[in-house]
Amino acid sequence: MAKYTPTVEVGLDRMRDMARGNFDLSWMDSNPEGWGHKVQRSQAGLKLTDVDHGFYGQVPAQGSSHGTMAPRGCYVPEGTISLDQYTINEMTEIWADNAASLYDEAVVRQWNSVTDVPWEKLKTLPDDMEKAVCQMCTGLAEVEFVAGDMPAKWLCRINHDFHEVKLFLATQIMDEARHLDVFRKRALANGGGLLMASPGQEELLAAILNAPDYATASALMHIFGEGFVLTLFRQGEYLAPTEVEKTIFGLCMQDEARHVAYGVKHLKFLLERQPEREEEIHAILEKGEQAIFSLTLEPQTSEPRAILAGGGLANIELGMMRMAFIYQKQVHEYLQRLKVAGIDRTNRLSIPTEIPYAEIAA
Ligand SMILES: [Fe+2]
Ligand SMILES: [Fe+2]
Repeated sequence: MAKYTPTVEVGLDRMRDMARGNFDLSWMDSNPEGWGHKVQRSQAGLKLTDVDHGFYGQVPAQGSSHGTMAPRGCYVPEGTISLDQYTINEMTEIWADNAASLYDEAVVRQWNSVTDVPWEKLKTLPDDMEKAVCQMCTGLAEVEFVAGDMPAKWLCRINHDFHEVKLFLATQIMDEARHLDVFRKRALANGGGLLMASPGQEELLAAILNAPDYATASALMHIFGEGFVLTLFRQGEYLAPTEVEKTIFGLCMQDEARHVAYGVKHLKFLLERQPEREEEIHAILEKGEQAIFSLTLEPQTSEPRAILAGGGLANIELGMMRMAFIYQKQVHEYLQRLKVAGIDRTNRLSIPTEIPYAEIAA
């Protein structure tokens, strides 16, 4: 007879026992409190918030100490090994009350760059316009995935009891993959190609990735960085010479709106419980403001947008004015979002609310 390891031998013994009709079945009654759970489906279908209520909706302020991946609300047998990798165990550090519904919205609204963009509508553009689109897409392909890398960096450290947030962040990683992919595709799809990378953007990306903790990284990325991008995409008609770019901006905008909505609610949740962290948040936002403003000095970032907004190199001045208008909107909406989150930065803003072209335009 073959010789097996002790583990296999014990397993075989157990199977022989079961074959004789000796079952354990203790799991059947392991979680009496969690049994008999009633669920009411929403009109749209079965949402996370439909199932996670009552016993299963109790989110602990401090994530479970057993350190396992056991789903919140189940019975965890004694002796279950800890994975020893969850370092974000405080609810305040990551929680947002809208995380579950944003997750549901995200999974329902997934789109794809293969069939949802009307690529067949691409047409040959004048050289200056194609170059401007390609440069803008090079810059966006460079910056987009930081919002995937940042949650990816923290995700495996977040206590498993906060599954709503983990699930939401997982959708964000997928969203950002799509953004990187769609801007890259646009740059390569119409006879042009990628142009120049942006050292200035790398500064902001570094600040996000090197932020000392999740909460400050989130304020900088979800509210500041993605907020600026959201406002830009909302004004997408200025930057979209064809139906293709318009569609891309529209689709990305839906995703960015979710990411920003999470960030605002998260910061609010944090500051309501730990108001002493406000200064930390101010400091990281100032860093972001400085980094983003230095981008205005970078021709590869500001010029292509101005060419697109003006409708061609010959109208770059008009484009600069339009971009100055968008900048004003970006700063205004940024301050508004912070106010909703409970932080007033109006008098501490380290960058102007208007840039010179807006004055010329006025
Ligand atoms: Fe994005
Ligand atoms: Fe995003």
